[in-house]
Amino acid sequence: MTERDVVIVGAGVTGLTAADRLVAAGRTVAVLEARDRVGGRTWTDEVGGVPLEIGGQWVSPDQTALLETLDDLGLATHDRYRAGSSVYVDEHGTRTEYTGDVFPLPEASANEVERLVAVVDEHVARVDPDRPWETPGAAALDETSFRAWLHSLSADRVATDNVELFIAGAMLTKPAHAFSALQALLMAASAGSFANLVDPDFILDKRVVGGMQQVAERLAARLGADVHLDAPVRTLRRDDHGVTAIADGGIEIRARQALVAVPPPLYSRISYEPPLPRRQHQLHQHLSMGFVIKVQAVYDRPFWRGAGLSGTAFSPYELVHEAYDNTSHGSEQGTLVGFVSDVHADDAFTLSAEERKARVLASLAHYYGDEALRPVVYHESDWGTEEWTRGAYAASFDLGGLVRYGADQRAAVGPIRFASSDLAGHGYQHVDGAVRMGRAAAAEILAALPQLAAR
Ligand code: FDA
Repeated sequence: MTERDVVIVGAGVTGLTAADRLVAAGRTVAVLEARDRVGGRTWTDEVGGVPLEIGGQWVSPDQTALLETLDDLGLATHDRYRAGSSVYVDEHGTRTEYTGDVFPLPEASANEVERLVAVVDEHVARVDPDRPWETPGAAALDETSFRAWLHSLSADRVATDNVELFIAGAMLTKPAHAFSALQALLMAASAGSFANLVDPDFILDKRVVGGMQQVAERLAARLGADVHLDAPVRTLRRDDHGVTAIADGGIEIRARQALVAVPPPLYSRISYEPPLPRRQHQLHQHLSMGFVIKVQAVYDRPFWRGAGLSGTAFSPYELVHEAYDNTSHGSEQGTLVGFVSDVHADDAFTLSAEERKARVLASLAHYYGDEALRPVVYHESDWGTEEWTRGAYAASFDLGGLVRYGADQRAAVGPIRFASSDLAGHGYQHVDGAVRMGRAAAAEILAALPQLAAR
């Protein structure tokens, strides 16, 4: 059996950030990773000879923890291509090109969207993303679905469909009836404001040259042989003196503290001996993954740019509800990325692969014209089939869960702690949140270790 100060379950950005901080503070660690690669929900891969971001990729200016890490690791960023007009498709299928960040809606609905964004942001200003359950009126906001709440604020369905899109399809990737108004406010507060979320030039500002997975790869390179791949942790056995992690491949690590840095819906894949307390047994059942298909279509050239289009496109009424220019840095080819969310993703996966591809490309063609029908490479990121993730982008509570359980979601159970981007305040559901959670967990563990050492 190998002995370490800390054993970390999961080599995503959360787990590796924590490990990096602990080692920098002079502690010994072992990181056990189920997959044959590090990075978790960040994954840069080559598909048909083209480098693609299969998972998390964009960075926004408020994501300062991630920006610091990129700097520390010597990773550069580049801007998302955004010159030219965006495209909006309305509820009748009519396509309009526009500039600026206001959708070309009928005047009354455009005004209503502006009013709703202001109302939502008034609420967001009262939310501390690290303690959303303490928001004034939290209980009422958490028992109302985001859709019902928006409908109570406005009778203009075009306006509410558009406002809903930014949090439901674009962020939590669940239908807006399935999560609460408070959860939606947390999502917005975690990015500074709702206005930030609706502004693609803010929230989708930059990408990492060479790919986001390098964050995990470079952190792991610092740790060397202390990162064990193909080592899913099956059991965490705890006692008064510490914890033993038992993973596949005959790996057993004895440590004083453990950090479980996996998506919350996977907590129950691990056997805890003795079992976790009832609070965790209950709480963990109320956090579930959203679901979105990230689709990328690569063309010989970025043909939309020649037509004066930025590649940015939205419609609450299209199968692909949002799409962007996702061309690789320095590439002469052009890549479009689009997203198919929640119930639309469910429906899409009832189709054959050919039919699904045809429907997705038809939706892209509604935005960019028929040239979109003929990519040279086509790829769907399907995180729903990934055993060690089971959805995308991240986990959120069901109605009422945030107020009922939120304050305990990061509570330690003896020597076992929990952290991931799904539990973050600032940077919630983002790589930045993973960095913040990794740092916070490392600080808590460092504070706990000397006490244990003194026993
Ligand atoms: P993560 O899930 O990455 O890591 C957990 C690790 O634990 C995994 O490596 C997993 O294999 C491992 N594991 C699980 N169970 C285990 C077990 N029993 N034993 C050992 N290991 C185990 N964010 C962003 O900032 N900008 C963006 O543009 C996007 N876009 C985006 C697109 C898509 C398609 C996805 C799926 C996600 C995003 N995100 C994003 C979200 C972002 O990628 C995500 O929030 C973080 O990468 C999560 O990092 P964590 O380390 O917290 O979990």
